[in-house]
Amino acid sequence: MSAAYPIIDHEFDVIVVGAGGAGLRATLGMAGAGLSTACITKVFPTRSHTVAAQGGISAALGNMAKDDWRRHFYDTIKGADWLGDQDAIEYMCRSAIDAIIELEHFGVPFSRTPEGKIYQRPFGGMTTEYGEGPPAVRTCAAADRTGHAILHTLYTQSLKHNAQFFVEYFAIDLIMDEEGVCRGVMALCMDDGTIHRFRGHQVVLATGGYGRAYFSCTSAHTCTGDGGGMVLRAGLPLQDMEFVQFHPTGIYGAGCLITEGCRGEGGYLTNSEGERFMERYAPHAKDLASRDVVSRSMTIEIREGRGVGPKKDHIFLHLEHLDAEVIHARLPGIAETAKTFAGVDVTKEPIPVLPTCHYNMGGIPTNYHGEVVTIKGKNPDNVVPGLMAIGEAACVSVHGANRLGSNSLLDLVVFGRAAALRAKELVTPGMPHKTLAPGAGEFAIDRLDKIRYSSGSQPTSALREKMQRIMQTNCTVFREKGVLEEGVELLDKVHKEMGDLGISDRGLIWNSDLIEALELHNLMDQARLTIYGALNRKESRGAQAREDYPDRDDKNWMKHTVGWVDGKGKVKLDYRPVHTKTLTDEVKPVPPKARVY
Ligand code: FUM
Repeated sequence: MSAAYPIIDHEFDVIVVGAGGAGLRATLGMAGAGLSTACITKVFPTRSHTVAAQGGISAALGNMAKDDWRRHFYDTIKGADWLGDQDAIEYMCRSAIDAIIELEHFGVPFSRTPEGKIYQRPFGGMTTEYGEGPPAVRTCAAADRTGHAILHTLYTQSLKHNAQFFVEYFAIDLIMDEEGVCRGVMALCMDDGTIHRFRGHQVVLATGGYGRAYFSCTSAHTCTGDGGGMVLRAGLPLQDMEFVQFHPTGIYGAGCLITEGCRGEGGYLTNSEGERFMERYAPHAKDLASRDVVSRSMTIEIREGRGVGPKKDHIFLHLEHLDAEVIHARLPGIAETAKTFAGVDVTKEPIPVLPTCHYNMGGIPTNYHGEVVTIKGKNPDNVVPGLMAIGEAACVSVHGANRLGSNSLLDLVVFGRAAALRAKELVTPGMPHKTLAPGAGEFAIDRLDKIRYSSGSQPTSALREKMQRIMQTNCTVFREKGVLEEGVELLDKVHKEMGDLGISDRGLIWNSDLIEALELHNLMDQARLTIYGALNRKESRGAQAREDYPDRDDKNWMKHTVGWVDGKGKVKLDYRPVHTKTLTDEVKPVPPKARVY
C-alpha cells in the first residue's frame, strides 16, 4: 500500500453507505438489534435526497375510503408494466401498513384528517376495485414535505441507538475477496483527506439513484449513483437500467419537482388550447394516470404544436381553482417553489411544467431481503455474500418498468427494515472478521491516486455536461433506434475522453474537483448501461417507449436486463427472469394484460 496514503482501519458488524430514508432505516434497525453499525455518508444525513420527496408514502390504510393492500399490490404490478417481481411487490405492499404505523410511532408529523387519522391523498396509478373503480386515496402525506418529515424523524431515531456516523465521507470502492465475498468498503474523509478502510460482515449500499446522468432532473447534485459505480467496478451487474422515470411536472427550465400531490388535490394539466388533454389519453384516470403515461401525453401535445409559452415547449399545471386554504395546508412547499423558480403565484396563475428525469427504476439487483444477487451458472438469483443494497440504488424489483408515485418512500422504509432483519439473522454481534488479503483496498487507492493526478485537458464539468446532454437528447421519454444508436456512439466517445480528464486541485482536503471526478466515473458507467439497455430492448414497456417498437412484447421481453461494464469499459448485457410467483397464497399472481388507465 502506498506510503502516501496511510490507512485508518475500522471494524464493525455492519456498514451502511448512505443516510437517506433507506440507509437510516437500515442503520437504526441494525444498531437497534445490537449490531455495531457504521453509517458512512457523503452529506449530513438530513441533507440526503430523501428530504426532497414531497407528495407522500403509499399504504392501503383505508383512512379516507375503503382500501386493501391487495389492490395496492395489483396497482404496483400494473404500474410496473409486468416487469416487477411479484414476490417482492407482495412483501412491500403487505408491509406498507405496519411501516406507516411504525413511522407514526417514531414521530413523523403526518397531516391529519378532522378525526385525527393520517391524511391520505390520491396519486397516479393507485386505483380501487383493481383498476375498475375511482382513484384510490392511498398516499399518506405530511403536507408536501413528506420526505423531509420522514428523514428528520429517522435521523433522530437513529441517534437513539448506538450507530456511529461517518459524515462527509466519500465511499470509493468495495473490498471484495478472492471468493467474491464483500468484506468492507474504502472511503475518503473529505474533511481532513484521510483514507479509511471499513470492515463489516455486511455492507449495505443505500447510495440513491443516478439522476445526475441527465441534464435536467429533480435529483439533488449528490445523486451520482455511487453504489452502482462501486458494484460495477467489483465485477457485478446492474439491472433494468433502461427504465428511467420522467416526472410529468418538473418546473419548466429549473427542473425542480412540483409534486404529483398537486394533481391528487385536484390540479390538472392543459395545453395551448386550454384543453384538459389527459381526458383523451387516459379517459378513466385522466391526470392521475401513471407517470410514464402522463409524461408521454405531454410530450405528444408539445410535439404536435399544442405546447404553451412563446416556444410552445411546455404545459400548464393549474391549481388556481383550488381553495387557497387547501394550498396553504396541503401544498405550501410547492407554492413557495413555484414562486421562487417560475415567478408564479399558484393561487392566480398556472405553473409551467415539463417532464423531467426523476427516478431510476434500475439499479443493483437484490432479493426482497435486500441481499445483492447476480447470475451464477444456471442460478439467476445467486446471493453475493456480504453485500446488500436498498432504496433507489437497488432494483428489488418492485417498480419494474415504471414506479408509481409514493411507492419510493415506501420502498425505502420497507427494504431498509428488511435489510436490518436479514443482517440480524446473518451476523452475530462481535463475531470475528476473516483476515483480509494483503493489499485489500489497494484497488480503491490506486484509482483515487490516478484520478487525483490526472492531467488531461478536459475538466470534469465539461465531460459531465457532454454526458448529460447526450442522455437528455438521445435517451429520453420517447426512444428510437437511430437516436439511441447515435447516443451510444456519442457517449462511448465521451467515455473515451475520460482519459483526457484533468484535475487542477491535487489536495485531498475538501477537494470538490476530485470528488466530482469520482462521481462522474460512477455516473458515466451507469449512463452507458442505460442507453445500451434502451437500444437493446426492442419493445415498449413502462418508461421505455420505443417509437419503432410501440407494443409490449411479453413473449420475448418479459425479463430483466442485467448489464456489466468491464475494466476496459466494455458493456455486456444478459437477462434474469421476472419473478411471477407471489410469496404466499393470500394473493394471486397477476397475469399480464393490456395496461390502460
Ligand atoms: O410527486 C411527488 O411528490 C413525488 C413522489 C414520488 O416520486 O414518489
